[in-house]
Amino acid sequence: MSLLITNIGELFTNDDLQPASDAAVVVDGERIAWVGPATEAPAADERIDAEGRAVLPGFVDSHAHLMFAGDRASEFAARMAGEPYTGGGIRTTVGATRSASDEELRRNARRLVGEALRQGTTTLEIKSGYGLNVPDEARSLRIAAEFTGETTFLGAHVVPAEFADRPDEYVALVSGPMLAAAAPHAKWVDVFVERGAFDEDQARTILTAGIRAGLGVRVHGNQLGPGPGVQLAVELGAASVDHCTHLSDVDVAALAGQGGTVATLLPGAEFSTRSPYPDARRLLDAGVTVALATDCNPGSSYTSSMAFCIALAVREMRMTPSEAVRAATLGGARALRRDDLGRIGVGARADLLILDAPSHLHLAYRPGVPLIRTVISNGVPQ
Ligand code: NIG
Ligand code: FE
Repeated sequence: MSLLITNIGELFTNDDLQPASDAAVVVDGERIAWVGPATEAPAADERIDAEGRAVLPGFVDSHAHLMFAGDRASEFAARMAGEPYTGGGIRTTVGATRSASDEELRRNARRLVGEALRQGTTTLEIKSGYGLNVPDEARSLRIAAEFTGETTFLGAHVVPAEFADRPDEYVALVSGPMLAAAAPHAKWVDVFVERGAFDEDQARTILTAGIRAGLGVRVHGNQLGPGPGVQLAVELGAASVDHCTHLSDVDVAALAGQGGTVATLLPGAEFSTRSPYPDARRLLDAGVTVALATDCNPGSSYTSSMAFCIALAVREMRMTPSEAVRAATLGGARALRRDDLGRIGVGARADLLILDAPSHLHLAYRPGVPLIRTVISNGVPQ
């Protein structure tokens, strides 16, 4: 089936070739087939009149932890009353996740994937990381793969309680049998490199084992304080290093090099942990590719809204509205090393949003308002 979208108020393509005005888009099957002036548009089976609204690529949420059970609302309330965030609550979610049935995990993930899709997220990465033993990590990824091809093995989220006094044995488990059970269902490997989680050597062991198993690398780094995460990510050719809240000049220079490691910023986490926001301007001015993602998880950032992250990035992180929308679309695609996503150009996957607004500016200008009017996912209006 082909679909022609006309009467577009603003077409936010992320491609260099922006049609000057009165643009139209033609979708054929799962791909974008044509972009250009409406007067020259080819015929199509169906037509959508956008009535002057903005059209942009579907959001690419390149960082989400959706394989869990339970929530930690009371931990959030305690933080808002002054408690710090340490990541210690991860073990609470591990307990709930291990106790949940496959069907409970699947139902929770389906609920969140649906919630995200209604808010314009057409591609979603999903991490494991609340199983932290061989069977629960493997089933987390097996179920995650029912929802997305962008699955990430995060057995190295924290050291689980039963290994508290034997962290190196846990590292051996993660990089051996757990990785072997997870790898058939995973595209990526990730490590939480942070004081209280995994140090540089432990992370290198796990990530290089992941590379040998054929997985791409992503890293949680520099979230709660300065640390080796960013430089390790760049050294290992990671697709992305995520959080990037506490960066040295050397970290920024490493990211600005030619390695192709994206800095993924997760402002939902700073919002929900009352931490200082990362400085996106510093990264952009240095030439670093920046992505925005939700980090959706029950502890540090329980939002599935990319529009909320865009609003935070503009208000708190010195991004312009167009930089923020680009980071939430093309940036996410780069962070997943996908050149078929995050842009409206011929050959790209037909993931498009029609806003209930005349331009992308409204996503930050009207925070909290449900502006996603139509979601087209893989060529299909939802
Ligand atoms: O990305 N930082 C580590 N992991 C998650 C938080 C997980 C949790 O608190 O449950 C994050 O913020
Ligand atoms: Fe995370």
